[in-house]
Amino acid sequence: MQNLFKEVKIKLQQALHDAFNLDVGIDQIEVQKTSHQKFGHLQTNVSLKLSKQLRLPPPKIGQVLTDYLSKDNTFSKVEIAGPGFINFFIHPEFFNSTLNQLKDDPYLGVNVMPSHPHVVVDYSSPNVAKEMHVGHLRSTIIGDAICRFLTFVGWDVIRQNHIGDWGTQFGMLIEYIIQNELDIKNENITKCYQQAKKMFDEDTEFAKKAKERVVMLQQHDEKTHSIWEKLVAQSEQHFTEVYEQLDVLLGEADVRPESFYNPKLQPLIDYLQKENISSIDQGAKVIFLDGFKDKDNHPLPMLIQKSDGGFLYATTDLAAIQFRIETLKAKRVVYCVDARQQQHFDMLFAAANKIGWCDESIDLNYALFGTILGDDGKPFKTRSGDTVKLLPLISKAIEKATTIVSTKNPSWDQQRVNETARTLAVASLKYSDLCNDKIKNYAFSYEKMLSFDGNTAPYLLNAYVRVQSLLRKANISMDQALDYTLNITEQNEIQLAYHLVLFSYEVETISTSLELHRMCHYLYQLASLFHHFYEHQPILRAETNEQKESRLCLVGISSKILAQGLNLLGIKTLDHM
Ligand code: ARG
Repeated sequence: MQNLFKEVKIKLQQALHDAFNLDVGIDQIEVQKTSHQKFGHLQTNVSLKLSKQLRLPPPKIGQVLTDYLSKDNTFSKVEIAGPGFINFFIHPEFFNSTLNQLKDDPYLGVNVMPSHPHVVVDYSSPNVAKEMHVGHLRSTIIGDAICRFLTFVGWDVIRQNHIGDWGTQFGMLIEYIIQNELDIKNENITKCYQQAKKMFDEDTEFAKKAKERVVMLQQHDEKTHSIWEKLVAQSEQHFTEVYEQLDVLLGEADVRPESFYNPKLQPLIDYLQKENISSIDQGAKVIFLDGFKDKDNHPLPMLIQKSDGGFLYATTDLAAIQFRIETLKAKRVVYCVDARQQQHFDMLFAAANKIGWCDESIDLNYALFGTILGDDGKPFKTRSGDTVKLLPLISKAIEKATTIVSTKNPSWDQQRVNETARTLAVASLKYSDLCNDKIKNYAFSYEKMLSFDGNTAPYLLNAYVRVQSLLRKANISMDQALDYTLNITEQNEIQLAYHLVLFSYEVETISTSLELHRMCHYLYQLASLFHHFYEHQPILRAETNEQKESRLCLVGISSKILAQGLNLLGIKTLDHM
């Protein structure tokens, strides 16, 4: 099945060929949703765009195409509008037959890729010895949704949790732990890290020892290494706890931390030097890349080895990108990172190109996100100015959701309230993050995310609950509803059906553009159209049995698409609320 836009484009392509003997690529034909239903469902500007090439006025081209396409029974009407636009009114029969097919398709009309190329999604990627903060919440939620979308359309998704578990900071932390004879199990490692950092900056003797400790760690000194291992294990336990709370797909098998690449770094540097790809700049090794300038307009190189031999964040990323392309055979790599890291990744991609690891067939890209802000419009911090830690943040959302659920359902037992509240809270946290264009900053608000009005998770989950309760009233399951035949005739049924048909287009578009908020917007509209239909058409009391069955079928498809859309965002549905 083609998505509707593509289907209409193909028809236009054929019409241009037959009527004007003109062959155009499908990508040159634009088809859009109309701005209002009085203009039909879809619109194209081809007549205007091809006027020069065909040496004909747009209305003339429009007329010929309109006459040609009016014979196609996909459309109930094709008309010229304004200076030569063409409006298409889709025939209800087209919706009936498309949806009757789509309801039995596990992919709901989405064109799944015939081959399953590898895509690496780098996300979450928190740092050992530091608690996860709200930036990692964004990366985790966004990356998880991206993995779900890409899997759905047929990519073979390789999740990579690029945990920061290596680097000079471990020298000071381990030195601090040894000097103070601390038992890691009983310590707040983040606090220790802050102390160690302070000492490193203030005490030269300590700084010297900390640097020696880095070397010992590199050389696998037993005591040093075993403390490091304990630090990593303890942090990973914390990360796993967060992932479980958030219901994300990340597991232990997805962890490929920075330390994994450590043995590859010196050989890589040597290779780049030998091949004259890197150069020496004030004792450090760097790669000069076209187009990168610092603020004084001087060439800005990528620093890959400091003059003291130390490696950097970029060095590890360089080794990682090589591993992803050459060993994991990635055809596409997506980094879910804070927008402030954009330049780092632009340089990384340029370097990978310069080194010759990839050609145009490999798509290196990022899913950049903005900052979470507090009420004051500044980056979200606790009252004391610390970064907001994830576990307490999730707990607070659950606590607030519990109050809402128990107030709405006073007769429920505690367990039921708790389970529902947890699902509602996690859904709200995720949805409030995903529903804005991810590059934008957004203000964090428990009240807003848990509100039942507006473009929120509770609103959508409530629409789903409403659908389920309707099916219960009809005494049928969703699958039974889907077994009925769809035969829509009324305007609000058609509007809803039209929207349902567009699901595949949305999913296909998002799996390329990664604009996750499009799906939120789509589902929000779906819920509104559903409510509109539900409020205006009798379903259980429809005039004829055929009508009742058709409407129940429409309810079933709506419910299936709503659930699938939420699932792609990583959000679980609820049957009661
Ligand atoms: N650990 C980094 C941070 O907390 C994110 C890593 C992103 N991934 C990467 N390959 N650099 O900011």
